[in-house]
Amino acid sequence: MYSVVNFNINGYHYKFPVIYGTCYDKAINISKLRESTGFITFDPGFKNTGMTKSSISFIDGEKGELLYRGYPIEQIIKKCSFIETSYLILNGELPDTAQLKSFSERIKKFNHLHKEMNQILDHIPNFYHPMGILSSLTYILDAFIDCLQEEDMYIHLLAKLPMLAALTYRKKVGGPPTHPDHHLDYISNLLKMFFSVPNQSYEHNPIIADALNKLLILHADHEQNCSTTTVRLLGSAHAGLFSSISAGMTALWGRLHGGANQAVIEMLEDILKSGGNIKKWIEKAKNKKDPFRLMGFGHRIYKNFDPRAKIAKQVAENVIQELGISDPILELAKNLEENALRDSYFIEKKLYPNIDFYSGIIYQAIGIPKDMFTVMFALGRLPGWMAHWKEMKLNRDPIGRPRQIYIGYKKRNIKK
Ligand code: CMC
Repeated sequence: MYSVVNFNINGYHYKFPVIYGTCYDKAINISKLRESTGFITFDPGFKNTGMTKSSISFIDGEKGELLYRGYPIEQIIKKCSFIETSYLILNGELPDTAQLKSFSERIKKFNHLHKEMNQILDHIPNFYHPMGILSSLTYILDAFIDCLQEEDMYIHLLAKLPMLAALTYRKKVGGPPTHPDHHLDYISNLLKMFFSVPNQSYEHNPIIADALNKLLILHADHEQNCSTTTVRLLGSAHAGLFSSISAGMTALWGRLHGGANQAVIEMLEDILKSGGNIKKWIEKAKNKKDPFRLMGFGHRIYKNFDPRAKIAKQVAENVIQELGISDPILELAKNLEENALRDSYFIEKKLYPNIDFYSGIIYQAIGIPKDMFTVMFALGRLPGWMAHWKEMKLNRDPIGRPRQIYIGYKKRNIKK
């Protein structure tokens, strides 16, 4: 273990401190680099930059391991509900029975929306993408919530986001808005708000509820990804929680990030429609002159299997089998995965399926339309975004403000 590293720049020696994480991450603290040497670092896409210290989740990309507050994702999936996981991520420890009861009851207490939210929704065009609708509604929600306690804001968002997602869904499919049922748990209530028909009783399918619970847990946090970084960056400027989360949603919508779940199904449908020639599509993904990429493959951190993708594949197989669906898309996805994993391009670049490769197949089996997939991802990621916002404030992280290498004109005069 080194406590400093030495830099030799043009014959001058500099020492920079080294920081270690609990799971053996190591970093050179270069915050005084420019002050001491005149140099800055250049790292487009922040591929090699640690922007904060965090204790929420940990990824070992080489081993393909994911921990939430120290617990392996495989254990959380088996033993916890999404609400217990949300509590863990937000508060650092799993709740005991009394804590879980009080957390769930507080969420139910905030399970209502101001009538103006419905009026605002009425003015958003039907053809707008659900992620645009959800992030707009989340942003404006701020206007109607007056919280004295910061902790209450987190509970408001946990309570209201499923309602906003259900309103968005029902606007898209043309159904009347539904109301939460306070007798139900979080996942059952979410399903009822999506799929129940007014004046008819609604019984959810436990297989579907279990799959949805698992998917939301798989999405719950993933350290400094693009949307979480967006949330932290906004928060570092002292922007409010709702606007920071709304911005995080907009980042998540991007097709290289959470929007990949919609893009994967669209890609698989295109492959099927065009005759199912997998080899041709793999060649297309490898061709540098073609902008096409194999959606749902590759990850900035994982250079091994994404553990979430392994679980999602298993859940997809179970759901499809238990619901008795025959899904050619699942068979195609498995075939595509096998072929890609045998191909030297994917082997050399360490490109493995990520969470989005199989999650859309599960959402489709549950009855969620393609353009709502990323909305479901956002529901799952909410506790992670909020925990990072909270941590960023507690750490007193400075305002995020990278430098640049300017390559424009040198100083010049206007000639007139
Ligand atoms: N298909 C074909 N080639 C790929 C792919 C892919 N899916 N992903 C990466 N590559 C190649 C890329 O062309 C590059 O090749 P080269 O070194 O010859 O230029 C190399 O692999 C490294 O890729 P990169 O783009 O520099 O890696 P990155 O860390 O900047 O990007 C990524 C990560 C996830 C954006 C990228 O792998 C990708 O575009 N994947 C498809 C979209 C996707 O599935 N996104 C969901 C990510 S997981 C869920 C989430 O966190 O939101």
